[in-house]
Amino acid sequence: MTFEPGPPVALPHSLCSVTLLMPDPGTAADFYTEAWGLSAVERDGTAAWLRGTGTEHHILHLAHGERNALGKIAFALRTRREVDDAARALAALDVPVVREPGPLDGAGGGYGLWFVDPEGRLVELSVELEAVPYRDIRGREAVPRKLAHAVLNTVDIDATTGFYTRVLGMRVSDWSEHQMSFLRCNSDHHVIAFNQAPWTSLNHVAYELPSIDHFMRGIGKLKRAGIAPMWGPGRHGPGDNTFSYFTDPAGLVCEYTSEVAQIDEDAWLCRVWPRTPELSDQWGTAGPPPASVREHMAGIPDPGYFGRAGDR
Ligand SMILES: [Fe+2]
Repeated sequence: MTFEPGPPVALPHSLCSVTLLMPDPGTAADFYTEAWGLSAVERDGTAAWLRGTGTEHHILHLAHGERNALGKIAFALRTRREVDDAARALAALDVPVVREPGPLDGAGGGYGLWFVDPEGRLVELSVELEAVPYRDIRGREAVPRKLAHAVLNTVDIDATTGFYTRVLGMRVSDWSEHQMSFLRCNSDHHVIAFNQAPWTSLNHVAYELPSIDHFMRGIGKLKRAGIAPMWGPGRHGPGDNTFSYFTDPAGLVCEYTSEVAQIDEDAWLCRVWPRTPELSDQWGTAGPPPASVREHMAGIPDPGYFGRAGDR
């Protein structure tokens, strides 16, 4: 799917939440609430909506699926008019809008639309989601503040990067050779990144800790609970963020991160980073990613929204 140059259909200002599908969301919800540091806002059977300390109603939605998959990725717009305009512009580009603008009936409500990207990912654009009070954490408890980013495996990094820059006006902050592209929609270095891979799937979801001290305390808390990082801690080159990767009970990869680079739109220069050990692991503490974490990051082929029609 290629598009003529033109204005974006919308300009999201933040990544709100991801929905992960898995055979046993209840067990994963226990992990994310008891070990990872999130709190349940709502539970419905085995499905759960989980928050961090920020005002997003939820940042992670866990729901049942026959197989592990990315259920949805949600971005915030500012006004209903932007949602309505986006629907018309998406239709004009022949991008399938599978939920027309209107009230959203999921937890947190709001007003929005759903569309499907060329690789089958379901994307929500929304406004007016119910906010929750900032959760004041006393002391240095390691609780994620918000989603930092989602990394998505793609079979065509150029086409997929092109879609998100053209359609959602995202800017490419950096490339890691021709293997990964890092895209931003606000001052954070990236809110999504694409990784060239043999099939489409979720690579991992990253959660931002408020400081490097919280980040290290989070790793320690998990370690005391018998949960060791699969890779990390370390500090990436592109984005300059700290990283430590774990797997949840479903086998999906989750990351603690902090100190992601902040972008000055007027001064930033996009670079292509060589994939050298010194740049991939600035501190030299993590080493290269072990085969086990790469296997979990590859996951299984995701049939996408239309391919899951039988599951719904
Ligand atoms: Fe990451």
